[in-house]
Amino acid sequence: MKSKIPSIPLLSSRSSCFTTLKSLMASSLTETLTLTVTQTHHSNSQQDDLDDVLCSDRQLQEQREESASDTSPFGLGSPSRCLAGESRVERAWAHWAKLGQPKLIVAPMVDNSELPFRMLCRKYGAEAAYTPMLHSRIFTENEKYRSQEFTTCTEDRPLFVQFCANDPEILLEAARRVEPFCDYVDINFGCPQRIARRGYYGAFLMDNLPLVKSLVQKLALNLHVPVSCKIRVFPDLQDTINYARMLEDAGCSLLAVHGRTRDEKDGKKFRADWEAIRAVKNAVGIPVLANGNIRHMDDVQDCLEKTGADGVLSAESLLENPALFAGYRAAESVVGSEGNDKEGKLDQTDLLVDYLKFCERYPVPWRMIRSHVHKMVGDWFRVHPDVREDLNSQSKLTFEFLYNMVDQLRERGIRIPLYVKDTHEERVPADGLASRNV
Ligand SMILES: Cc1cc2nc3c(=O)[nH]c(=O)nc-3n(C[C@H](O)[C@H](O)[C@H](O)COP(=O)(O)O)c2cc1C
Repeated sequence: MKSKIPSIPLLSSRSSCFTTLKSLMASSLTETLTLTVTQTHHSNSQQDDLDDVLCSDRQLQEQREESASDTSPFGLGSPSRCLAGESRVERAWAHWAKLGQPKLIVAPMVDNSELPFRMLCRKYGAEAAYTPMLHSRIFTENEKYRSQEFTTCTEDRPLFVQFCANDPEILLEAARRVEPFCDYVDINFGCPQRIARRGYYGAFLMDNLPLVKSLVQKLALNLHVPVSCKIRVFPDLQDTINYARMLEDAGCSLLAVHGRTRDEKDGKKFRADWEAIRAVKNAVGIPVLANGNIRHMDDVQDCLEKTGADGVLSAESLLENPALFAGYRAAESVVGSEGNDKEGKLDQTDLLVDYLKFCERYPVPWRMIRSHVHKMVGDWFRVHPDVREDLNSQSKLTFEFLYNMVDQLRERGIRIPLYVKDTHEERVPADGLASRNV
């Protein structure tokens, strides 16, 4: 029987999606993790501390116990050691087929693709989802980090659990802890942030391909679930192709390609290179997912046609509009679009209420909830800045406050709808649950 998770504040973040890890990792260069936790706690504002407390510690423990008993082991047989290239590719496709070949996928997002958000996106059409990136070493060392940053439930499948790593042994130890609960263990080779440079992981391992290879091989040879990788492209196309082939040869069973280079950090400024993704798809045999420039379902269609990829990941657009995969479009993407867009049955306040209900069921730190509230109803806050100020002034959030805030926004009389295209109507039945065909 696991001990009850203490409700001490652990992590600190709101300013950046990677601050959570940053505070842990920066300090962990010189201090023990215990010291880091203590120091982080003392140096934060009261609001930061409160935001890092789970919205319900007791429920989380119950949910974790439920997940553990609900989840059955994979019938995948032995790890893929000794398999020749062709059989590995066949096996990769067999696994993908068993999962129903999901096409519409929630991308990994630190502090943002947590369980309640994944469940919300699944309700509105997402067919698979990634966890936020987890730091493999901290995951192996720290029980509180594990229990706060990785939660799942029976319905949270297919699921990719993503780690960053630079030590094959530690990565394997972390991966073994999650393999009963997921369909892929994913390695993040795409993070371009300064914290990844300092911690030597993510896209900075593109400078050390032998290490990349050994990380993938270690998992492929020892895990029962397949290994997937999420990469960025090199400036040179042939380098990208060679990289993808090396990953496949090392035992990677699925490749998600973000069509931007390590230096193209700003997704709004740089368009993802779908041609490069197409070249990767043509160069390897395993399933390939395309990432970048997916704002609505027309982009999905376009991307699948132009890249030949087997599915797409979306990140930033989903944060604003978690019903994207059900055919809903945010107002800004309707401007200049072809076809008859009309007001849909849902708006972002409806989605926020759905999200809050998932949070009540699957507790997460308040800082994650706060972040989603700002992203989901940011357009509404722009019209009613006083409501945002009221939210920001709350040192301690409650569900009651947030539900009241939604009522207030609705009572103000200005509605900001999400739109649907006539052609997408069949994917958007009254309950908001999308059908699974693109
Ligand atoms: C808030 C946020 C957090 C992110 N965290 C991760 C992460 O943990 N792991 C990862 O591989 N990529 C992460 N990314 C990158 C996205 O997964 C995705 O590759 C990128 O945003 C491009 O997709 P988009 O154009 O749909 O936004 C993050 C992106 C955002 C916006």
